[in-house]
Amino acid sequence: MAAQSGRLGFLTRWLRRLPLAVVAFLLLACSGAEIDAPERWVLSNVHIKGYPTAEGLVRFAELLGEDPKLEGRITIDLQLGGVLGNEKETLEKLRFGAIQMACVSAAPLQEFAPVSGVLALPFLFENGEHLWRVLDSEVGDEIAAGLTEAGFVPLAWYDAGARSFYNRVRPIVRPEDLRGLKIRVQRSEMMRDLVEALGASPVALGFKQVYTSLHTGAIDGAENNLPSYRSERHFEASRFYSLDRHAIVPDVLVVARERWQELSTGEQIALRNAAQASARIQRELWADYRQKAVETVTEAGCRINEVEDPDAFRRAVQPVYEKHAGRYGDLVERIRKLGAATPDS
Ligand code: GCU
Repeated sequence: MAAQSGRLGFLTRWLRRLPLAVVAFLLLACSGAEIDAPERWVLSNVHIKGYPTAEGLVRFAELLGEDPKLEGRITIDLQLGGVLGNEKETLEKLRFGAIQMACVSAAPLQEFAPVSGVLALPFLFENGEHLWRVLDSEVGDEIAAGLTEAGFVPLAWYDAGARSFYNRVRPIVRPEDLRGLKIRVQRSEMMRDLVEALGASPVALGFKQVYTSLHTGAIDGAENNLPSYRSERHFEASRFYSLDRHAIVPDVLVVARERWQELSTGEQIALRNAAQASARIQRELWADYRQKAVETVTEAGCRINEVEDPDAFRRAVQPVYEKHAGRYGDLVERIRKLGAATPDS
C-alpha cells in the first residue's frame, strides 16, 4: 500500500511538471481515444510567388484554413516554384499517392488523362471567352468526368492565357520563320506534333529547364504565355516574342481521386468552393500581370510582334488535327459550335 502510494505520488509530481497539452495528449493516448489530427495535403505547382496562379493557390490554402465547416481538418502544404519537380513528375507523384493535389497545365495532363488533350489542340479556341464558355458547359462537364475517371478530380480551372512562340534568332512573322529552330515543348505528344508541323524541331523539357537551356543555346526558343515568359525570365535569352496565339490551354487544380473519395460531402463542397473562389481571384490577377509582363519585357529591349497571317499558321497545323482530333469523338465539333456563339469573335 505504502509502495503504491509512493509510486502514485511520483507520477503526480512528474505529471505536474509537464505542460498541460502534453498531459492531455498522454492521457488521451493511454485511454485509447482517437485524436482527430489534421490532414496535411501537399499541393504542387511550378510557378513562383507573385505569379497569378501561385497567388490563387495561396488564397485557396487560406480559404480552406478559414472554412468553419472543415474545422481545420485539412491543411494545405503549398509547394511552389517546381520544388517538387516539373509537371510530369508532379503528376506521377499524385498518381502514386506521394502528394495529394497539383495545379498543372492541361497539356502534360493529357499523357495521364487523354481527354485533357482536346484543350491543347491548336487554334481550337477563338479567345479566352470561348474557352470559359466551353469549360462551363456540358462539354466541360464531360472533360471533368474524363479527368476524374483517370484519377484526377478537377476542382477549378485557372487562366493560362494564349501560348505563342519566342526565340533568340528572329521574329516569327510567317510559319516558315520557325523552320530549323529548336523549340522547347511541354511533355505532350500534341505539342511536339504542333511544332513539327510548323517545321521546327521540338525539344521536350520540363518548365524549369527552359531558362538554362535558352542560355546555353541547347534550344533556340520555346512557346508560352507572356506572364511565364516574364516570370521565368526567359526574355533575357530570347528577345523575340511573336503573338501567333497557337493554343489557349488552361491550368487545372486537381486532387487525387482516392483522397477525394475519402471526404464527406460537406468537405468536398468546402474544397470545391475554395477552389472556385481562388480561380476567380487568379483570373482577376491575370490581366494585370500580363500587362506588366508586356512592360517589363519591352523595357528590357524585347520585341513583341503580331504575325502576318494567322490563317497561314492554322493551315500549317492541319496534320495535328488529322492525327489527334479523332480521339475526342464529337468534342471538337461541339467546342467549335460554342465558339460561333461568341458575340465579338
Ligand atoms: C504555363 C503553365 C504551366 C506549365 C508551363 C509549361 O506556364 O501555367 O502550368 O508548366 O506553361 O510550359 O510547362
